[in-house]
Amino acid sequence: MSKKKILIVGGTGYLGQHLLQSYNANQTSQSHSYDLTVAFTYHSTPLPQPLLDAFPDSQSFHVDFKSAIGFESISNAFGQPDVVVNCAAISVPRACEIDPASAHAINVPSSLVKWLQSFQQNSTLLIHLSTDQVYEGEKSFYKEEDIAIPLNVYGKTKVAAEKFISENCPNFVILRSSIIYGPQTLSPVPKSLPIQWIDGALSKRETLEFFHDEFRCPIYVKDLVTVILALTNQWLSEGKKMQLLLNVGGPDRVSRVQMAEAVAQFRGHDTSLIKPVSASSVDRGVKSPADISMDITRLVQTLNINPVSFKDGVKLTLTTEAKR
Ligand SMILES: NC(=O)c1ccc[n+]([C@@H]2O[C@H](COP(=O)([O-])OP(=O)(O)OC[C@H]3O[C@@H](n4cnc5c(N)ncnc54)[C@H](OP(=O)(O)O)[C@@H]3O)[C@@H](O)[C@H]2O)c1
Repeated sequence: MSKKKILIVGGTGYLGQHLLQSYNANQTSQSHSYDLTVAFTYHSTPLPQPLLDAFPDSQSFHVDFKSAIGFESISNAFGQPDVVVNCAAISVPRACEIDPASAHAINVPSSLVKWLQSFQQNSTLLIHLSTDQVYEGEKSFYKEEDIAIPLNVYGKTKVAAEKFISENCPNFVILRSSIIYGPQTLSPVPKSLPIQWIDGALSKRETLEFFHDEFRCPIYVKDLVTVILALTNQWLSEGKKMQLLLNVGGPDRVSRVQMAEAVAQFRGHDTSLIKPVSASSVDRGVKSPADISMDITRLVQTLNINPVSFKDGVKLTLTTEAKR
């Protein structure tokens, strides 16, 4: 069995932790001819104890994209990865609006890509997380070939990242992800999670405003993980040149009102507490595209993966949370 090295950059974040769990669970599998060694990076210190306890065999490295500090220790202790999944980002659009310079320095992974260029070319696949917010939001079901017209700093940094990666990496996959939802992570992340937030708010039996005119195709986190594992497996078993851009969303185009209704229906909350309002009625300190629903035909055809419906994803999320 050959040993293959996986590096999750931003392993302490929401997606990063779900990936850490799944890669570790798939370290040895009879369905492929390699074993995986998994390492991850973090930025805030100290590294959360639950992660150290849960993954004692995974090496962890402190890395700062802004200063490029930390990459050298990965070279020395881990060496060239076969696959890098980049989940590191300032992922909250409002935070990007407040500090555009930091958003650019972190969301465009130039320090990561330059470090990868120090290794043997063509041997590492970079899987990079982008966003549906690269689209303008003026129509439904965007396709990958539609022109990217981001409305906010977050989207602009992600477009710049896509350009930088496609010009500088010989092998890459860019995943334009919609809202990622699912169960909380082993070490809880600081930002609020969409389904849990809606559930918590409706549980208080207070009337709440939701936008009826903002549409997304939210993706269940475990489906996104399945996509990334499938791409990893394809690269490690075939080793063929890979330059892919994929929309990654669930099959349903839902408004914020419909998201809240799905949670309310599953949990038995009073749906009359959901008050539909227009997104234009609220100043969120950041421009938010109206309809960035995505066409996921390319994803389904390339990987033969069918993400779960939003209704089923809500059920999976809340039943998993109930078992915690
Ligand atoms: N969550 C969503 O709904 C969603 C939707 C579409 C696209 N995406 C994209 O998917 C990716 C993962 O999202 P997520 O929700 O998992 O993000 P997240 O929870 O905010 O995690 C971000 C990660 O980036 C690390 N990080 C922050 N600043 C850094 C720096 N200066 N240098 C190096 N690492 C740094 C954080 O480390 P510490 O935790 O140690 O500080 C953390 O591990 C991001 O690219 C995001 O833009 C997310």
